[in-house]
Amino acid sequence: MKKLLISSILVSIVTVPALAASAFSDGKDAVEYRQQAFQLIRHNTGDIGDMMQGKVAFDQARLQRRADALVSLTTLPWEAFEVAGANKASGDAKAEIWTDAADFKAKAEKFQAAALALQTAAKTQDQAKIKAAFMDFRGNCKACHDKYKAD
Ligand code: HEC
Repeated sequence: MKKLLISSILVSIVTVPALAASAFSDGKDAVEYRQQAFQLIRHNTGDIGDMMQGKVAFDQARLQRRADALVSLTTLPWEAFEVAGANKASGDAKAEIWTDAADFKAKAEKFQAAALALQTAAKTQDQAKIKAAFMDFRGNCKACHDKYKAD
């Protein structure tokens, strides 16, 4: 009986991802989600940038926390570009995202890889390595925005 209960709980946990498509109530909701994800990316990136420029004191623990957050945050926006109603130019998203989808995806993946590299660099506590990884990570924003973000 106990076993049965546990297995039915497991089944209900395991079936949750099948409902993941309903994380967004509609296209507008998905646009908001990705914009908020980008805002969180901006905050975390900005704080590291301030440290790199000496605007705030270098703080290894804080840097690591930001880099760790960016590894997760950089995985978030992309699914929200595929939701019906959010899969066309809206917000600042340009139509090229969908007409040149393979390139957009490649840029998103490069960005996520750069976040992982930044996290690895942060763990070395070597400021030269961290700075190099951060510059590389930071370059991804403009590389994507120039082509795919309006304004
Ligand atoms: C692979 C492409 C891509 C990368 C890489 C990328 N962005 Fe964006 N970003 C976009 C797109 C597309 C939008 C427009 C989203 C929308 O309005 O639906 C956007 C929007 C934004 C916004 C505005 C969100 C809002 O509230 O409307 C901010 C801030 C932002 N990005 C910051 C960043 C920062 C900082 C980085 C780098 C650390 C970055 N992005 C990397 C594609 C990218």
